[in-house]
Amino acid sequence: MKRKITSNVHWVGKIDWELTQFHGNEYSTHKGSSYNSYLIEEEKVVLIDTVWAPFAEEFVENLSKEIDLSSIDYIIANHAEIDHSGALPELMKHIPDVPIYCSANGKKSLKGIHHQDWNFRTVKTGDTLDIGNGKQLVFIEAPMLHWPDSMFTYLTQDNVLFSNDAFGQHYASEFLFNDLVDQEELHSESIKYYANILTPFSPLVTRKINEVLALKVPVDMIATSHGVIWRDNPTQIVEKYLEWADAYQENRISIVYDTMWGGTRRIAEAISQGIKEADPEVDVRLFNSARRDKNDVITEIFRSKALILGSPTINKGILTSIAALLEEMKGLRFRGKKAAAFGPYGWSGEAASLLTKALEDSGFEVVSEGLKTLWEPDEKILEEAKTYGHEFAKKTKKRNLISSSINSI
Ligand code: FEO
Repeated sequence: MKRKITSNVHWVGKIDWELTQFHGNEYSTHKGSSYNSYLIEEEKVVLIDTVWAPFAEEFVENLSKEIDLSSIDYIIANHAEIDHSGALPELMKHIPDVPIYCSANGKKSLKGIHHQDWNFRTVKTGDTLDIGNGKQLVFIEAPMLHWPDSMFTYLTQDNVLFSNDAFGQHYASEFLFNDLVDQEELHSESIKYYANILTPFSPLVTRKINEVLALKVPVDMIATSHGVIWRDNPTQIVEKYLEWADAYQENRISIVYDTMWGGTRRIAEAISQGIKEADPEVDVRLFNSARRDKNDVITEIFRSKALILGSPTINKGILTSIAALLEEMKGLRFRGKKAAAFGPYGWSGEAASLLTKALEDSGFEVVSEGLKTLWEPDEKILEEAKTYGHEFAKKTKKRNLISSSINSI
């Protein structure tokens, strides 16, 4: 139902408490999500984004209880992806001629998704739309944050930045605002969202944020399209994005492995022990990729300064959970992280070199030759693994500095 954001801006979206997977099965949503749509009622009535398709009828029905749909003057589609444009077909049945403001790429994407020739009005960065009472909407294209069509819309006087996916979280909450929710949950869902969705676009994130900051416009609220609205110190999430976009890392090492009979796990544990002995301060964490949530593991890797991957050799290859993780990391392209690999084997023994090559191809700096160990680990092999961890800790003790483009705000 309609919920007040500012005097004339209301949230009219959908909180999805049931959602456990997003983007098909690509993103786990342990805390659900929301599809935030906003209604601005000035002299002109404006709807910003809609909700995911399964909730289209419910959305339009609820909206029609709040306002006469024919009073909507403009629709803003900040992003064409179906979780935000999914209710447009249902809505446009009622108001087929209302103009839809979007970027040029937004028009292409909306037409490609919905196959409708709606009344599109394409806008560029700096274009404005008067909505009466002295207020304007200002459009800011944000290509690849995270689709080519992505766009922000800024409401003057109320100083609300409708940022769509950027600064969002898959986080269902009835509280609506950032200051009212559990701060640890909010941080954890925000960083997971960045790690899994925005990492490949980090240089663009930095550039776009600096471009927006250079406009020197006041921002009292950042109204995202998922999760809570940032109203208490809204720039805190902007500062976090600048930090996360700058080859983010903490003093952590992740050891991610899969194992068939426990041998790979025992080697992982021995490596971990070696790391801990050499550097008691580093936070070393072990994850069995077959048993842990993939997106949580990706988030852990994002937060780490270094990664060690392990898999036994099977059919001259590696275990499938590790292969899936590598496919994900190839696309995410983490920056400034060191890595190494290990692979127990019985006869052919390709795993360690395959993992090493895959890590290099994904942009990691491989600092140690892959550790190959024959058959089940005995005391000698476990000692060797411990020494390997010891050496790895020494090689990763200092942060891998890469060129930084971060600007303070
Ligand atoms: Fe929330 Fe890119 O859709």
